[in-house]
Amino acid sequence: MIKVLFVCLGNICRSPMAEFILKDMVNKKGLNDEFYIDSAATSNWNELDGAGIYGDAKKMLREMNIPFTEHLSRQISKEDYDKFDYILAMEEKNIPDIIRIVGEDKDNKVFKLLDFTSNTRDIADPWYTGDFITTYYDLVYGCEEFLKKVVGE
Ligand code: 4NP
Repeated sequence: MIKVLFVCLGNICRSPMAEFILKDMVNKKGLNDEFYIDSAATSNWNELDGAGIYGDAKKMLREMNIPFTEHLSRQISKEDYDKFDYILAMEEKNIPDIIRIVGEDKDNKVFKLLDFTSNTRDIADPWYTGDFITTYYDLVYGCEEFLKKVVGE
């Protein structure tokens, strides 16, 4: 079982979109039983508000025919570090926030999602850019390349 935790600032836009995009890819490859996929935030604001996936993120998933269920924002915890094999951040500034919560990345589990591509960079936050389309395609690109790296072509 490969356990993957996507992490972004708020856990209502990028990381839940990534969670359901990867779940859909894994499902289409018949690999459901081999993956456990979740998402979390570096912040606790949305958890405290009881916030679910942001409306525009849901709309984007629906438009792209990506099935999703409700996901309530939660902050990453220290226990997540032991539980998950891959902790995949959306952008560089997520990394120190993750390390502050989980401690040193002693098992080399923390990456940016696009580190698995030949074009490593941040995935822009659509909460601020309003551009859910660019973010969606970056997430698809990252998830495709990540899957190739962990299960092959
Ligand atoms: P996300 O976007 O990190 O992609 O979920 C954000 C969502 C909410 C906030 C910031 C970023 N916020 O400030 O509440």
